[in-house]
Amino acid sequence: MTTTYAVLSECLEKRFGDVHALRGLDLAVAEGTVCGVLGRNGAGKTTAVRVLTTLTAPDGGSARIAGHDVVREAGAVRAAIGVTGQSASVDGELSGRQNLRLFARLLKYRGEVARTRADELLERFELTDAADRPARTYSGGMRRRLDLAASLLARPQVLFLDEPTTGLDPHSRNQIWAAVRELAGRGTTVLLTTQYLEEADQLADDIVLVDSGRAAHSGSPAELKARIGSYAEVVVAHASALGPAAAVLDQLTGTEPVLDHERRTVGAVTTDPSLTLPRIVRELDAAGAAVIDASLRPPTLDEVFLRLTGRGTPIKETAA
Ligand SMILES: Nc1ncnc2c1ncn2[C@@H]1O[C@H](COP(=O)(O)OP(=O)(O)OP(=O)(O)O)[C@@H](O)[C@H]1O
Ligand SMILES: [Mg+2]
Repeated sequence: MTTTYAVLSECLEKRFGDVHALRGLDLAVAEGTVCGVLGRNGAGKTTAVRVLTTLTAPDGGSARIAGHDVVREAGAVRAAIGVTGQSASVDGELSGRQNLRLFARLLKYRGEVARTRADELLERFELTDAADRPARTYSGGMRRRLDLAASLLARPQVLFLDEPTTGLDPHSRNQIWAAVRELAGRGTTVLLTTQYLEEADQLADDIVLVDSGRAAHSGSPAELKARIGSYAEVVVAHASALGPAAAVLDQLTGTEPVLDHERRTVGAVTTDPSLTLPRIVRELDAAGAAVIDASLRPPTLDEVFLRLTGRGTPIKETAA
């Protein structure tokens, strides 16, 4: 069976003056799947979404959405997609209900259908109680939910979500996650950008790690995690125990430990699935390194970058 790609980009380029925001970005998102585009501030995520959704033209390369070229068939692309941007697109002076009805009318829904669809979406995103207040009085999470509701009115084939949960509380975040899962379950292709490894892990079938405008790594969450491993970190009771603790972690993980003298911590990446926290603690005890805290946890995004790109510090833009 051949795979049909809902999003397919090759060598996408975008420059803003001296800033080379996209440097040959390749993406391939199979129809009906969720792709998590993961990257730090300035990696090029929003630029990619803007190019793929026809909001800005690429300077090079090509992209097809649902089979249509983003430059030559921009109208057909727009008809196939929904977009929720990083900043809300709803009108603050209108109520949530008015916003959704307006969007529905713009999509040429008949009056009654527009009202029913708007009410359904308000209910689904728990906005019914606030439905008749101006959207500018909504909290950040409520606005984001209203924004997502608006992008779902058209029942898009491909939905783009640019950092849908940044700054949201866990309850609002879970609602957005549930909506994404439901949409994916109904066959919508979703491309979402995020700075949270956990979010990509929770939602995505495939993750693309974007670094400096390029797809630096891609794979399923399991593949990526296996490549990244876990992060073992211990806090020692006295500075004198840092050295012995580092030696233990070095020996157990086979990777070079990172010492933080101020916080009295030693950490190291491990890709050994059989390494457990009790074993680490036992070995530290045996080495006489008094430990006051120890953890074995998934790495943070920075640690992922450090591991996969060899760079842990924020990327400085260089004029190309
Ligand atoms: N309109 C613009 N004019 C000039 N530079 C821009 C413009 N838009 C983006 N850039 C630059 O392009 C690079 C990529 O920006 P982009 O917004 O795509 O990053 P991002 O991955 O979405 O970051 P964030 O996580 O902060 O949202 C950055 O260096 C940014 O400063
Ligand atoms: Mg962005």
